[in-house]
Amino acid sequence: MESICYNVELLTPTMLNDFSNEMKSKFGFMLDKLGRESAISQQLNDPITSFEKLLSPVATSHNLIICRNDDNIIGYLKYGKKDLYFYKKDGKVVQSSPVCLLDFYVSDIYQRQGIGLLLFKNMLEILSINPCLFAYDRPSPKLISFLAKHYNMKNGDLQPNRFMIFDGFKL
Ligand SMILES: CC(C)(COP(=O)(O)OP(=O)(O)OC[C@H]1O[C@@H](n2cnc3c(N)ncnc32)[C@H](O)[C@@H]1OP(=O)(O)O)[C@@H](O)C(=O)NCCC(=O)NCCS
Repeated sequence: MESICYNVELLTPTMLNDFSNEMKSKFGFMLDKLGRESAISQQLNDPITSFEKLLSPVATSHNLIICRNDDNIIGYLKYGKKDLYFYKKDGKVVQSSPVCLLDFYVSDIYQRQGIGLLLFKNMLEILSINPCLFAYDRPSPKLISFLAKHYNMKNGDLQPNRFMIFDGFKL
């Protein structure tokens, strides 16, 4: 039986900037296509991930982790810090800059095969932090199910800023 090999790698904005023009165009084409698919599956009006967006000056803290099958990108995860306001349980508003999961997508035909977990674990290893310390941007029902299944994270608190936080989040 043929074994499938998935490669996971971190790409920082600096690394993307250093790509040759040929790589920029090839990689950008694949990433933009996945970014559009991600937006459709999350019912967003516009993609939140594209090659151009990752190189924009406002996204310098955003990093990308991709999963490749041979030469094709079949999934990605984007994370980075954001300045946000959160409501505490007592109603007080707190400003914080947590690491946020900003976008997360695995190509439809590859979903539910553990690739999302591969990407997510890679992010946790890189950052060495517990998943309850992240803020999750507009979490989809699939992400909510993913976090409950793999990390037993349930009953998330969806904040007015549309980020979801969980028990253990530092406010
Ligand atoms: C969320 C996502 C990245 C997870 O990646 P994945 O490779 O499917 O995840 P894994 O195989 O590691 O984990 C599977 C678990 O994720 C959740 N999940 C994945 N696809 C799902 C689906 N179609 N319906 C419900 N839950 C789903 C389930 O908990 C599933 O476990 P189960 O199969 O036992 O029910 C992927 O489903 C996806 O790209 N979804 C569309 C985009 C999206 O919603 N992104 C989240 C942005 S907020």
